[in-house]
Amino acid sequence: MTDLLRVEHVERHFGGLRALNGVDLAVATRERLAVIGPNGAGKTTLFNVIAGELSPTSGRVLLGGEDVTRRRPDQRAVRGLGRTFQKNNLFLGLSVFENVRLAVQRRHGVSWNAFSPAASHRTVMAETTEQLDTVRLRDRAGATVRELSYGEQRQLEVAVALACRPRLLLLDEPTAGMSPAETVGMIDLVKGLPPDLTLLIIEHDMDVVFALADRIVVLHHGEVLAEGRPEEVRKNPRVMAVYLGTDVTASGLVGADGVKLADCHSLADLVGGPPIEGERGALGP
Ligand SMILES: Nc1ncnc2c1ncn2[C@@H]1O[C@H](COP(=O)(O)OP(=O)(O)OP(=O)(O)O)[C@@H](O)[C@H]1O
Ligand SMILES: [Mg+2]
Repeated sequence: MTDLLRVEHVERHFGGLRALNGVDLAVATRERLAVIGPNGAGKTTLFNVIAGELSPTSGRVLLGGEDVTRRRPDQRAVRGLGRTFQKNNLFLGLSVFENVRLAVQRRHGVSWNAFSPAASHRTVMAETTEQLDTVRLRDRAGATVRELSYGEQRQLEVAVALACRPRLLLLDEPTAGMSPAETVGMIDLVKGLPPDLTLLIIEHDMDVVFALADRIVVLHHGEVLAEGRPEEVRKNPRVMAVYLGTDVTASGLVGADGVKLADCHSLADLVGGPPIEGERGALGP
C-alpha cells in the first residue's frame, strides 16, 4: 500500500510552546487512523498543519507523494484533502441543502444564476442529494442549520466535506458533544463511508476509536508517544502511564475543569483503568 499522507518531522511552535515537536506520521491509502491524546496534546494543531491552515515551523507534509507544505488549504482540497472542524463551520441561516450545494458548486466552479446551463444545475443537484443520502439528512434538506440538532449539524459537516470528493478526510472529534444515541449514529455513518476514502480521526471517545480505527497514534506534548493496532496501544505501558497516573499532572489530563475530567473518563476506558468516577468526585466541581 502506498502512503496517501506523510507527515515528516513536523514542528509547530507558538512562541516558546512546542505544540508539535517532531511528529512523523504515515497514513496508507484506505486506512482509518485515529489520533488520540490528552487535551493540548497537539491533535488539532496537527490537523491544521496537514490541512494547510497553519504552516509548520519546520518539517514537511506530503499528500499522494507530493510535497504540499507550502500549499494553501484550497490547493490541498483540490488534491483530495477534506476536513471537518472541532467546532461547526456551517452557514447557520442557510438550509441543509444549500450548505452542501455551495460546497458541490465550489468544486465544480459552477456559478448559480438563471444563465447557468441546465446540465450543470442537474449535476450539482444530484451530487448534493447523494451527499445528503450518505449522511442520512435527505429528509432534513429544507431545514435551516439552526433548526438541526447538534448531532445533525455534525452529520451535515461531513456531507459538506464529502462534497469536495476527498481522498483523505480529516475528522476532528466527530462525536464531541453528542448524546449516546447520536454517537452511535455517527459511528454508523462513518463506518458506511466509501471504503476507498482514507480517514484520519481525532477522537476522545474510546468506543468510537475502537469501532472505527485500524490503527491508533497517541500524541502527548506534541510528540508521538505510541502507535499501533488498537489492542497493542491499549497494552502499551507508556500510554498507560500517561492516562492512568504517573504522568497525570504533566499530561494536563486531570485538571480543575470538567472538560478535562470528562476526557479523562473516556480515555481511561482505553486501558480499562482505575475508578475514574472516584477521581471525578475528588477533583470535580
Ligand atoms: N493559535 C494558537 N496560539 C497559541 N497556542 C496555541 C494555538 N493553538 C494551539 N495552541 C496551544 O498548542 C497546544 C496544542 O493545542 P491543540 O489545540 O492542538 O491540542 P488538542 O490536542 O487538539 O487538544 P483538545 O483535545 O483540547 O482539542 C495547546 O497548549 C494549545 O494551547
Ligand atoms: Mg483539538
